[in-house]
Amino acid sequence: MSFPNVRLRRLRQSSKIRELLEEVRVSPKDLVCPIFVQEDLKSKLAGGSMPGFERLPLSGVTDEVNSIIDLGIPAIMVFGIPSHKDDKGTSAFSDDGVVQKAISEIRKGVGNRVAIMSDVCLCQYTTSGHCGLVNGNKIDNDSSLEVLAKTAVSQARAGADVVSPSAMMDGQVRAIRTALDDAGFTDVAIMSHSAKHRSSLYSPFKDMAHSAPQFGDRKTYQLPYTNPKEAMREVETDIAEGVDVVMIKPALAYLDLIAMTRERFNVPIAAYSVSGEYAMVKAAAMQGWLDEKEVTLEILTAIKRAGADMIVTYFSKIAAKALGEK
Ligand code: PBG
Ligand code: ZN
Repeated sequence: MSFPNVRLRRLRQSSKIRELLEEVRVSPKDLVCPIFVQEDLKSKLAGGSMPGFERLPLSGVTDEVNSIIDLGIPAIMVFGIPSHKDDKGTSAFSDDGVVQKAISEIRKGVGNRVAIMSDVCLCQYTTSGHCGLVNGNKIDNDSSLEVLAKTAVSQARAGADVVSPSAMMDGQVRAIRTALDDAGFTDVAIMSHSAKHRSSLYSPFKDMAHSAPQFGDRKTYQLPYTNPKEAMREVETDIAEGVDVVMIKPALAYLDLIAMTRERFNVPIAAYSVSGEYAMVKAAAMQGWLDEKEVTLEILTAIKRAGADMIVTYFSKIAAKALGEK
C-alpha cells in the first residue's frame, strides 16, 4: 500500500507517459512571426539590438515568408519602415506604401498559405515618431483615428487578413471597423493592441523600426503597468467596439493580465512577447549563460498557460525549429 502522492512520481518515470500528461503544449501553430520590411533597401540589414533579426527589402519578403510557412507557422505580422516621414503620416496609408506593397507581394507569392496581419500605427511614418498626429505638443486623438482608419483600409485593399492597430488611440477599433465595413472589407478582422503598456521593453523595436518619439514619451496614450483594472477596461472597451482578437503587451511580465483577461472575457487573446523580451534572452544566450531553445520554449509555454491563444514573438522561427526537433 503506497501513499496517493506516489502516483505523481510513478507517472513521471516514462517520457512517453510524461508526454501523455502534458496539459499545455506550444505548437508552431500558436505563433505569429513579425517581419520588418524597409523601403528602398537593397539587401537584408541587421538591427543592432535584435541579433538574428533583419530588416528585409521588398524583394526578399516572399522568400522569408516561405521559410516561415515551411516551419509550420500560420501567420506573420508586417511592420514597415518607410523612406518618407511627414507630420501627417501619409506614407502609412498610401496604396504604394511599403507595407501595402509587401502585403500584395506576399499574397502573390504564397497565396493563402499564410495569414497576413499588419501593424496599423503612425510612429514609423510621422516626423514626431508618435503613434498619433501631433497638434502643438499634444497627441490629437480624433484626427489620428481618421488616418489610422485609412491605413487599415489600404492594408485590407492590399490583401491583409487581419489589421492590428497598435496606436492606443481611444476609439481606434470602432473607427477602423466602420471604415473597413464602409469600404466593403467586412471579412477583414481586427486584432487590437488592447492593453498595450508603456514599457521599456520596446527599445530594441524602436531601433529596428526607426520609430522612437522625437519629443516626450508615450505615457499619454499607453497604459501604465501599475493599473490592472484600467487594462481590463481597455480590453472591455475594445470588445464593445467590435474587436475580433484582444492583445496583452508585453507578455512575460504581464502573465497576470493575460490570465485575468482569460477569466473575464470569452474572446481570442493574443500575447505580444516584445523586442526587449527577445533581446534579454538573446543577450544571455550569446554569452552562453542560458540555453536559448530551452528558455524560449519555457517562456512560450508559460504565456500559453496563462491563457493566450496565440503569441506574437520574435522567437517564432527559433521556437518552431526547436519544436520540430523534439
Ligand atoms: C508602435 C509599436 C511598438 C511596438 C509595436 N508597435 C513600439 C512602441 O509602442 O513604442 C513594440 C513591439 C516590440 O517592442 O516588440 N506602434
Ligand atoms: Zn506606434
